[in-house]
Amino acid sequence: MKKLDIPKKVILFCDGSKCGKDNKHNRKMFRGLIKQTEMKTEVMMVKIECTDNCKCAPVICFQPDNVWYGEVSEKKIPQLFEEHVAHAKLLNHE
Ligand code: FES
Repeated sequence: MKKLDIPKKVILFCDGSKCGKDNKHNRKMFRGLIKQTEMKTEVMMVKIECTDNCKCAPVICFQPDNVWYGEVSEKKIPQLFEEHVAHAKLLNHE
């Protein structure tokens, strides 16, 4: 059996009708930060279906931390990325 490439972090983006448009933009921002921190092999971004939290759109989740956020706006993304994905690594690239 071949060995799976397992990422250290997974970011889930709701791609339902209420979250999809904003999370498309959010994914683009995360993609830029992942590239900037050279974490492409460590972080995977996955689109998921509606999580029934539409009132809090757009919704994202960090795994394996299992931390969920609603109403994720562009200005929150650098902080969320640093807290849940990059930790000290991002600081070294600024
Ligand atoms: S569309 Fe994202 S929670 Fe429903």
